[in-house]
Amino acid sequence: MILPIVAYGHPILKKVAVDITPDYPGLKELIDNMWETMYADDGIGLAAPQVNHSIRIFVIDASHLEEKAPKTGAPLKNVFINAHIIEEEGELWPFSEGCLSIPDIHEDVMRKPRIRIQYVDENFVAHDEWHEGVFARVIQHEYDHTDGMLFVDRLSPLRKIMLKRKLNDLSIGKVKTKYKMIFPAKK
Ligand code: NI
Repeated sequence: MILPIVAYGHPILKKVAVDITPDYPGLKELIDNMWETMYADDGIGLAAPQVNHSIRIFVIDASHLEEKAPKTGAPLKNVFINAHIIEEEGELWPFSEGCLSIPDIHEDVMRKPRIRIQYVDENFVAHDEWHEGVFARVIQHEYDHTDGMLFVDRLSPLRKIMLKRKLNDLSIGKVKTKYKMIFPAKK
């Protein structure tokens, strides 16, 4: 089932999401729905808060970015549950990010290029991995969602001021998307 996407301004996008246990009700169905929603909406990643669940799950399929990703052997399509980034290293680098919750806005965001992340997969098998480059970038973006952060929160105060009107319009539903959204302040 394709789920509606929570739009910028909704309080759930600001909440630090919680870890879950394998008996979380409807977990398999939720993950299936997240994949279906992400592909239908042309996303490369989707986090549970974006579909109105404040829990630590995100899915990523960056396989089409393969030529840009270093060969670390890590799967470029993956489910991350209870993920925690425990180290980030390297020089900050800019990369243009977008987000299904913030349609029509793309901005360069500065992040570190190498991360160490601990998580469990959909079988609750534990992983402890380093990732780098574009794949690390997608993880950092989705991971932020489970920590109540959006990419626009990482922009300079000046860039944020320049985007203010667009972001306000978005939160009241003044935006056109191919997919269904939940607008926090729609009148
Ligand atoms: Ni996003």
